[in-house]
Amino acid sequence: MSALPENNVGTGNVGRANVGTGNVGTANVRTGNVGTGNVGTGFSPSQEPAEAGSHVLGPAEAGPHVLGPAEAGSHVLGPAEGGPHVLGLTEAGPHVLGPAEGGSHVLGPAEAGPHVLGPAEAGPYILPWNLVSTRTTQFAYFDAILGHPDWRGRKVLDFGGNIGTFLVGAGDRVQADDYWCIDINREVVEQGRREWPRAHFLHFDRYSPQYNPRGTRNLPIPDPGLRFDFIFAFSVFTHTDRSEMIELVGGLRRMLAPRGALAFTFCDPRWDRSQSDPSLPPGSDVRKMLERHGDAKSRSAKSRAEMDAIVARAMRSQWCVLIDTDLYVDPGDELSNQVRSGNALESYCSYFNAEYMATLFPDAEIHPPVSPEWQHCCLFRNGA
Ligand SMILES: C[S@@+](CC[C@H](N)C(=O)[O-])C[C@H]1O[C@@H](n2cnc3c(N)ncnc32)[C@H](O)[C@@H]1O
Repeated sequence: MSALPENNVGTGNVGRANVGTGNVGTANVRTGNVGTGNVGTGFSPSQEPAEAGSHVLGPAEAGPHVLGPAEAGSHVLGPAEGGPHVLGLTEAGPHVLGPAEGGSHVLGPAEAGPHVLGPAEAGPYILPWNLVSTRTTQFAYFDAILGHPDWRGRKVLDFGGNIGTFLVGAGDRVQADDYWCIDINREVVEQGRREWPRAHFLHFDRYSPQYNPRGTRNLPIPDPGLRFDFIFAFSVFTHTDRSEMIELVGGLRRMLAPRGALAFTFCDPRWDRSQSDPSLPPGSDVRKMLERHGDAKSRSAKSRAEMDAIVARAMRSQWCVLIDTDLYVDPGDELSNQVRSGNALESYCSYFNAEYMATLFPDAEIHPPVSPEWQHCCLFRNGA
């Protein structure tokens, strides 16, 4: 068993984290009921919002509301329907999306086949390029977070939008011509272009060991040449560290139209996923990832007691990073993928507690998850 990485307690620096955001104000942490059930906030009683200097809205103050089919004409697929799921490495091989997932789609060998990194790049390594998202809940999620806006003619940027399954969930509410996707994985961008020829897919060739191990460090976000009414990033900054998230969020905010809104999701390690979807096993997303990679990679597998201890440490952290099964609690910027070198296709997941996220972005609203998703949301409204 590998030893737990050293903690970097004390190196996390909120003041520094704020550099570049240029935002001063009061953050709202919404703790309203999640989804259709009264399932609580998921916040530990020992972490009172007052400790983080943020403001907590009570349930009566309009927590997110999950759309029913009759309300918005959209349908949120649950896991039983093959819902949100990003294929992991161990699930290599072509994946067939069934009709319930929003149209049948088969990755053939030519599309998803192995991709070989040269020795100078990462050593001889065959990449199973099957990191294709089948999630179709993004539209309903952000529609609820934004309070059901008028989507007609609005320009949407889906940052880290993968193959564009946002459009599947949106149906006719968002036209493909009004949709831009920027993603660092070239293969999913090319796949998206084939699937949605009227939409706009841009490759952002920035380094990420998990998604773009041949990319270039510190590249700026490509400029699509317009400003957006809505910018979303679903489960994207769950794969970057704090400093990269702050940098990219700053860049995205500069791409907003005058009255635009930016919303991105993040994972709070204390959230019990079964609160969002009773069909999911209870517990933190941290446990899910430990079990997934513990099963897959025996050399890094953890015992049940080790997993319990790791989950407990993550839940006590302000923020943390789980790389495969190694946890780094409240680290400094050395865990940024723009300064470190990771293993190609490693699993890199970051977690932020909601009150800490509010201190990083004081003018944002923090929303609890919209069922059946279990990720929180950070929302900025331009000119609000
Ligand atoms: C977990 S998947 C989520 C995909 C999609 N947003 C969804 O909801 O299904 C993460 C996606 O973000 C992309 N990604 C990761 N880091 C990124 C970054 N720094 N900039 C842009 N895209 C990124 C990945 O290539 C991948 O497509």
